[in-house]
Amino acid sequence: MHGFAYQNGSLHCEGIDLQSLAEEHGTPLYVYSAGTIRDHFTRLDQAMTGVDHEVAYAVKANSNLSVLRLLAGLDAGFDIVSGGELFRVIEAGGNPAKCTFAGVGKTRDEIEYALKQGIYSFNVESEEELRYLNTVAAELDLVAPAAVRVNPNVDAKTHKYISTGKSENKFGVDFEAIEDLYARAAAELPHVKLRGLQMHIGSQLTSIQPFVEAVEKVTPLVLTLKAKHGIEFWSIGGGIGIVYHDSLAAGSIDWWDAKSEQDRPLTLTQYGATLVPRLKDLGLKILLEPGRAIVGNAGVLLTRCLYEKQGTAKTFKIVDAGMNDLIRPALYEGHHEIVPLKEPAGERKLVDVVGPICESGDFFCQNRELPDFQPGDTIALMSSGAYGFVMASNYNTRPLPAEILVDGTTAQVVRKRQTLEDIIAAER
Ligand code: LLP
Repeated sequence: MHGFAYQNGSLHCEGIDLQSLAEEHGTPLYVYSAGTIRDHFTRLDQAMTGVDHEVAYAVKANSNLSVLRLLAGLDAGFDIVSGGELFRVIEAGGNPAKCTFAGVGKTRDEIEYALKQGIYSFNVESEEELRYLNTVAAELDLVAPAAVRVNPNVDAKTHKYISTGKSENKFGVDFEAIEDLYARAAAELPHVKLRGLQMHIGSQLTSIQPFVEAVEKVTPLVLTLKAKHGIEFWSIGGGIGIVYHDSLAAGSIDWWDAKSEQDRPLTLTQYGATLVPRLKDLGLKILLEPGRAIVGNAGVLLTRCLYEKQGTAKTFKIVDAGMNDLIRPALYEGHHEIVPLKEPAGERKLVDVVGPICESGDFFCQNRELPDFQPGDTIALMSSGAYGFVMASNYNTRPLPAEILVDGTTAQVVRKRQTLEDIIAAER
């Protein structure tokens, strides 16, 4: 389920008319549905019933303080990848003791900060990092809780830029090298306490099969580590894919519970039902690190059509959002459904929807048949709640868009639109 649907001919987010938000706050504008975020978090949590588990939301997907505060209120854990994300979680009232810290390149400052805040685990990506963690912890006279990320060499069958679990990726330590590494760490690194094992094979997985393959491959290893080193948790990572094609329609058919594979390739229910039986008797706490599955379909980017340009070969609809606001189409060939805020009736047209930036990659769709919206009309780029605003930049000296969080019939500005003065404030 998600909170976006036409009501009386105009697109709403829960009880709020998106056209009125666009008029009041301007465009480009990110709008998130609090109800959807709550729903997705709770569904995943419930789907894992039967296993001792924790849902650690991957902050990188959407790190707005109000989104984090909402999730902290649901007792979420948090998967962070920088000192900055830890700072945000703490500012939002999240508990550092429920934070895991991932990433291949943690700096000294970040390690110190996270150690002092008492995070749950450093998810370490190399032996070099583990040794450095031991050194920093020793200097502070602390013991660093840690897990090593295993690279299970499983094909996630997703876009190559968001596939992470193959041996040619930079992430994690080879499956075959893990046991020896834990033994060396136990013998040589007294300021590290290995309390778990972590894995993450990729993002936007739309089939359960690679998850099953990875879990089955790594299970004997975690059991060995538990027996030999007393590890207490296994993080199976994030990566659950969402609906991008026809995502508006998907909101009205309760697609998370859709029984047919055609309706939805991977539901949260299916994820839980398939993995719980494989995980429940391991005697380990299971951590999940979903980002996109929680917030992806909970957000849209609103943008206004400025011009329609008739080229010799194509029709271009030029809008006021650019690749600096939402980079997924340019970077991953990401598909975002495009719908006008006014419920369309009648004519459709084959168009490219493009932004104002001076790059050919600045498009939201190419050769797509869309309802024939006009200059002045506002459209929504669906499924933009994850890896949307967080990847936005000031390229072309364009201010970052505002963000709105809708909850029922209230809409709150959770980030003000940047001003030009904000952009240059730190420059000399
Ligand atoms: N855990 C780790 C260690 C990760 O690297 C990631 C995502 C996650 C969890 C959360 O994955 P999710 O559940 O959101 O799939 N910007 C790209 C996605 C990059 C994902 C990076 N890692 C996109 O827009 O598709």
